[in-house]
Amino acid sequence: MTTWIDLGAADEFCEDTPVAKQAGGQPLAVFRLGDDVYALRDKCSHGNARLSDGYVEDGCVECPLHQGLIDIRSGAARSAPITTAVRSFPVRVVAGRVEVDVA
Ligand code: FES
Repeated sequence: MTTWIDLGAADEFCEDTPVAKQAGGQPLAVFRLGDDVYALRDKCSHGNARLSDGYVEDGCVECPLHQGLIDIRSGAARSAPITTAVRSFPVRVVAGRVEVDVA
């Protein structure tokens, strides 16, 4: 069952600046790319680093610890040393509010 959890107003999320959020016990790194918003689990799959502390470039987030790249839209690994995807959560924007499904 889909349960949408409110993350805040859409204009709270800016391009190039990840935002750390919590929803349903999950730490999330939330990103805006154009009009779309994406949520990844806020932990690098390579080590103990928060993706919300990373740098956004060309649709990827660069991990702050070893500079591996993760695709913001899918959570897929894009460059070494990251080899495993990060979990990506469905996000929607309804009436100017961002909602995530972490089920
Ligand atoms: Fe993220 Fe190593 S902890 S690339």
